Amino acid sequence: MFDFGGKTLLLTGANGGITRAIARLFHVLGANLVLSDLNEAGLKGFGAELDPAGTRVATLKGDATKSADSDAAVKLAQERFGGIDFLVTGAGLYRDQVIATMTDEQWRQTIGANLDGVFYICRAASPALRDGGAVVNIASMAGHRGSHQHAHYAAAKGAVLSFTRSLALELAPRVRVNAVSPGLIDTPMVVPLLKVRGPQLIDQTPLKRLGTPEEVARVIAFLCSDWASFVTGETVHINGGLYIAS
Ligand SMILES: NC(=O)c1ccc[n+]([C@@H]2O[C@H](COP(=O)([O-])OP(=O)(O)OC[C@H]3O[C@@H](n4cnc5c(N)ncnc54)[C@H](O)[C@@H]3O)[C@@H](O)[C@H]2O)c1
Repeated sequence: MFDFGGKTLLLTGANGGITRAIARLFHVLGANLVLSDLNEAGLKGFGAELDPAGTRVATLKGDATKSADSDAAVKLAQERFGGIDFLVTGAGLYRDQVIATMTDEQWRQTIGANLDGVFYICRAASPALRDGGAVVNIASMAGHRGSHQHAHYAAAKGAVLSFTRSLALELAPRVRVNAVSPGLIDTPMVVPLLKVRGPQLIDQTPLKRLGTPEEVARVIAFLCSDWASFVTGETVHINGGLYIAS
């Protein structure tokens, strides 16, 4: 297993299904954690559960759509742990809405949470990332294929993929930057979709099941580790084969 002792992870949207699994895994691997999320109360409870003494875990309210909140998260990481080794951008918003009746506000809100937020935190964290560090942006299969009723989400995630490659060029050779594109992962985010098309989507998936949050977390840990030391500007798909099969 990887040893992240003495390393620090900054994770956004940290109170989610996938992101909590990332926090748990990095904590087990020895990392210090700075966790931010819009849901301050939920995140506080999770942080206390993870590390009751608060020695290796710090939490703060962070709205991904506000650049000042990203700056505050980086400041906290520097004050508490002296810098950042790993940045994982997990904040995400997935709302059903067809294009024909999508309001300006709905478009902006989804682009704000899923794309502006990635830019804000990457910009703020870049100077604080220590040499040998790694960034992993959480994109989505929707960013490659598009998604019915999620044009705003898919557009944002597609942009995250090209943003990731641009950032990889700018931060090399000091810091590696990659993305992951999960498919259907068993979290509250996809419950509405599963209600409508669950059995059909699982049947279309060659591995015949949903992914677990832990399966996404492990790929992210790999990308942050020295085992991925020559991997940058790449996207790893995590979808049980759904992408190639349907
Ligand atoms: N679950 C899936 O199947 C799936 C598939 C592909 C991609 N993803 C991506 O994985 C990431 C984690 O998703 P998850 O499944 O854990 O979802 P989730 O809905 O459980 O968690 C998302 C988290 O983001 C937070 N958030 C929402 N808007 C925010 C904002 N403006 N500022 C800060 N935080 C905000 C929420 O409070 C929540 O804690 C997201 O980026 C999501 O788009 C998930």
